[in-house]
Amino acid sequence: MARFHDLTVTDVHKTIRDAVVVTLKPENGAADAFDFTQGQYLTFRRDFDGEELRRSYSICAGKDDGILQVGIKRVEGGAFSTWANEHLQVGDTLQAMSPMGSFFTEINPGIARQYLGFAGGSGVTPVLSILKTTLAREPKSSFTLVYANKGVNTIMFREELEDLKNQFMGRLNVIHVLESDAQDIELFTGLVTEEKCAQLFEHWIDIKSVDTAFICGPEPMMLGIAAALRTAGLSDSQIKFELFASAQPGRLKRKVVSVDAASSANQTTAAITLDGATQTVTSPKDVSILDAALQNAMDAPYACKAGVCSTCRCKVLEGEVEMVANHALEDYEVSQGYVLSCQSFPLTDKVVVDYDQ
Ligand SMILES: Cc1cc2nc3c(=O)[nH]c(=O)nc-3n(C[C@H](O)[C@H](O)[C@H](O)COP(=O)(O)OP(=O)(O)OC[C@H]3O[C@@H](n4cnc5c(N)ncnc54)[C@H](O)[C@@H]3O)c2cc1C
Ligand code: FES
Repeated sequence: MARFHDLTVTDVHKTIRDAVVVTLKPENGAADAFDFTQGQYLTFRRDFDGEELRRSYSICAGKDDGILQVGIKRVEGGAFSTWANEHLQVGDTLQAMSPMGSFFTEINPGIARQYLGFAGGSGVTPVLSILKTTLAREPKSSFTLVYANKGVNTIMFREELEDLKNQFMGRLNVIHVLESDAQDIELFTGLVTEEKCAQLFEHWIDIKSVDTAFICGPEPMMLGIAAALRTAGLSDSQIKFELFASAQPGRLKRKVVSVDAASSANQTTAAITLDGATQTVTSPKDVSILDAALQNAMDAPYACKAGVCSTCRCKVLEGEVEMVANHALEDYEVSQGYVLSCQSFPLTDKVVVDYDQ
């Protein structure tokens, strides 16, 4: 089964100088494969000078927009994002996997909820999809977005957010916090830190009424916001994260495995189920489950290979693995046996994993 589908680029436009919004049309009858949930992302692959790169970009369209759209911000020196910003054109074909990710909550049309979103820079893309979908499909719910950027010129989707405020009169509140541009209200200038959040909760946001908070942005900002939300009384289950990149090595330390990888004690037998077929492979314990699958010509899904995106998620059915980094799975997924296979190393002589569950 082909995991990647062809998508034709039907529109490319700049939302700010350094970011493009790309509209895509699935080809070859693949439209159903791209029926996304708000807040999910697409993983693209492209060959750069003989090397395949895979990069994930969150869908910024709402469910009712009737389009598939991503926003790509150029990262200084970044291979894929620079190419997309400088060379991608209408009519080009991109290849992407079906939407993935669990950065969303279920929509319930009858309910009246208060949502709070925090976005930093390009982290607004999944939050935009969530807020558009939620406001359209939960008519009694409201959304407050705290949106952090360097300056006015770097605010992605600024006009669209203004239009949405008019469309959903009184139900969408956007607070722009700008790092370097001074604003009338001093609190709205600077970085979004734990302390600034505490002040926002004191003066501008009724945190007691918030049901769910969504956070997507640079990692230090996310950690500060999460700490402030917890201090203000939100539980972990009320806080949803989406991380784009991590500088951290991960929460867990990897155990040292003997250097004699060829010794049978350091080998594992892994039964790996993918697309309905199970293949049993023998692999050193210091090779990740994902690499064991890839080295044995299995087309296992992956993108970042850094424990950030969750594209490589699989379920451990038997045996034990050690996940050395996890910036993507939620605690409930881990307790159900899900792991990031790019970060998981076998501890037992036999493991059974399933990518299909
Ligand atoms: C689930 C998920 C969703 C994502 N959604 C979006 C999205 O909607 N829009 C978007 O623009 N990006 C998004 N990203 C980030 C995106 O996948 C790429 O990481 C980013 O575009 C950089 O790729 P690149 O090939 O241009 O840079 P690379 O060539 O991979 O990296 C170049 C340099 O930039 C650093 N770097 C990598 N990523 C970032 C970053 N995000 N910020 C700062 N420095 C970085 C690297 O450490 C490296 O030093 C998402 C990532 C994930 C995991
Ligand atoms: S490939 Fe991204 S978490 Fe494993």
